Amino acid sequence: MKYMTGNEIREKFLKFFQDRGHLMLPSASLIPQDDPTLLIIGAGMAPFKPFFTGKMKPPATRITTCQKCVRTGDIENVGRTARHHTYFEMLGNFSFGDYFKKEVIPWSWEFLTKELGLPSDKLYITIHTEDDEAFDIWHNKVGIPAEKIFRKGKKDNFWGPVSDVGSCGPCSEIHYDLGEDMKCSDDCSVATCECDRWVEIWNLVFTELFKDKEGNYLPLEKKNVDTGMGLERIAMVVQGKTSTFETDLLTPILNKVCEMTGKKYKQDNKTDISLRIITDHARCVSFMISDGIVPGNEGRNYVLRMIMRRALRHGKMLGLELPFLYNIVDTVVDNYKEAYPELDENRQKIKDVIKKEEEKFKQTLDRGQKLLDDLLSDGSKEISGENAFKLYDTYGFPLELTVEIAQEKGISVDEEGFKKCMKEQKERAKAAAQKIILT
Ligand code: SER
Repeated sequence: MKYMTGNEIREKFLKFFQDRGHLMLPSASLIPQDDPTLLIIGAGMAPFKPFFTGKMKPPATRITTCQKCVRTGDIENVGRTARHHTYFEMLGNFSFGDYFKKEVIPWSWEFLTKELGLPSDKLYITIHTEDDEAFDIWHNKVGIPAEKIFRKGKKDNFWGPVSDVGSCGPCSEIHYDLGEDMKCSDDCSVATCECDRWVEIWNLVFTELFKDKEGNYLPLEKKNVDTGMGLERIAMVVQGKTSTFETDLLTPILNKVCEMTGKKYKQDNKTDISLRIITDHARCVSFMISDGIVPGNEGRNYVLRMIMRRALRHGKMLGLELPFLYNIVDTVVDNYKEAYPELDENRQKIKDVIKKEEEKFKQTLDRGQKLLDDLLSDGSKEISGENAFKLYDTYGFPLELTVEIAQEKGISVDEEGFKKCMKEQKERAKAAAQKIILT
């Protein structure tokens, strides 16, 4: 296995599929275009939704991309594991009614073992329980021993749709074994485990179904392919690391955060979590702002604010004074400008937006933290909805942040109560606006 930079892997992937007749497109913006059902792009296939359902004609039946993605569904894992991020890049190849399983499965194997030189004995396959066709191709055409192909149910080996309705289908995943010494227990196996030993590197989705409003799965007119390989994860494997934060994609940013905080990485577990959170979030917010998102209280604007404020709190925990986050932007931009020139063009804008938000939050962070500390030490096991709302409304603490801080102390938050307060406030605001119109 030869060392390759993140940039080299990205280029190799796109070239591999261009050589196999794919049109290469640049990453779409993180802001979905003409799609009110999506807040933010979170998968390589998301910009192509209408091509999968046949609603729109694609510019080519084979497309390959490296797509910027933001996912916050499991944000509490980010910083705590070696491989979760809020922002990541997804390498993908897509077939819109063109090739299907018998082409894409051997290609994926060829790319991993020949182009990247991964040792085949480290690779394991999962398929959907009923997918005999995928089994036959992996086993008889590619030559994978049957005991290295695992059948799993819908929870693991079925993907989509990205929103309530849309295209979806069974999938086959390729996992990499980081080695015996990473095992979590004596029965650690790719069949049952999601521990750090097994890295899911590539997901091949056979998009042949459409889930409708009633929850029925109907066959699509044409069979499609949607694959996704996380660039950070494959870089981790290719670069011989056990954490994505140690790849060339993230290390320069992590080093910058260490330098700013005066902390050394890998000295203390709690510090490392904060260092990784700031690293991940600085990168994520830079890309979001570059694509035109600004912090706010609704939708994707709120997502940005929440991520940013989470980073600010962890910076504060490491002794940084606000504003500091904007000082990491140059490192992010310099590390990514070759692949994403728009970051360089937007360098100043990104810094300005972050600094302004930092100044806004600075005024209330200390007072909010004080209220929160009081609430966490008054002996109760739960923070009430009213107090969580006060932290949000008066001190700008996103609910997710309050939940996370409380969780660290084993305390829960009445999230339903929070939502109720939020709804009541909206109703009051609506009534007040009505009154202004009427009077
Ligand atoms: N859509 C699938 C995923 O996000 C494969 O690209 O994993």
